[in-house]
Amino acid sequence: MIHTIKGDTWKGPFTEQQQKEALAALEEGQVLFFPSLSFSLKSQELALLSPHFADPRSKNIGYDSKQKKVGGAKGTQKEVIALGDMLGRYATEAQALVESILPYYKKTFEKARTSYRPMEIAGRRSSYRKDDTLLHVDSFPSSPVQGKRILRVFTNINPHGQKREWRLGEPFQKVVERFIPQCRKPLWGSSWLLEKLHITKSHRTLYDHYMLQMHDTMKADDYYQKTAQQIDFSFPSASTWIVYTDLTSHAAMVGQYALEQTFYLPVEGMAVAELSPLRILESFLGRSLV
Ligand code: SIN
Ligand code: FE
Repeated sequence: MIHTIKGDTWKGPFTEQQQKEALAALEEGQVLFFPSLSFSLKSQELALLSPHFADPRSKNIGYDSKQKKVGGAKGTQKEVIALGDMLGRYATEAQALVESILPYYKKTFEKARTSYRPMEIAGRRSSYRKDDTLLHVDSFPSSPVQGKRILRVFTNINPHGQKREWRLGEPFQKVVERFIPQCRKPLWGSSWLLEKLHITKSHRTLYDHYMLQMHDTMKADDYYQKTAQQIDFSFPSASTWIVYTDLTSHAAMVGQYALEQTFYLPVEGMAVAELSPLRILESFLGRSLV
């Protein structure tokens, strides 16, 4: 489940062998774990390590590195600028890491949102759909990915040495076999309506529909949450990991202060496209989903 990679710089360099092994492990659903790769905060940024900066309505502070815009934060103008600087630097580092360990993706991957997660996960209250302490595969209700992969880089920046404790669940194929038969088909015209009402930012494809249904059904199933095949894994502070969160079933149980960068990758950009959730779902359902 965990593929450990040595190294303490974002640009590597990594050997061809390391790159090949990392690509295969990642596409199979393993987590690429860099135990000694940390993100250095500037001394004035240490003051940003407080849950106080998060808008209570959103669990994360978001950053759009193209438009240099911070969302979901509260604080003075100066503090919000400082948050943006930190997130922008992280976005650059995370991109450099993906390019150096996964050069195969260089031509096709695209940088999406960056986030800062300053809230303690344990004990946080939310609806079950938003509760990341429940095993799930990632799917975004308002941002359809239309078959693209969701690749995420995380770094634990906890200053007190607190770990970020995750659970990792069963292989995607098993999740599909278990949950797809329980999932509903979309209502006729619903995808058109969601887009017209701006509930979704673009067309919710059948792929997005089924991924979201699986995400919700998994989270709603208490028995599954307790009994599914799973392991606990703790990411120490000052460590980094990369994972396909649309493929690898995961839950975040305990931890505070993490940075995260999301990338999208077209299925055609993968080394083995058959390992994508899109292709696995299409073959299970016997139809095209995008
Ligand atoms: C998640 O993607 O479910 C949350 C991961 C985290 O914040 O550690
Ligand atoms: Fe998730």
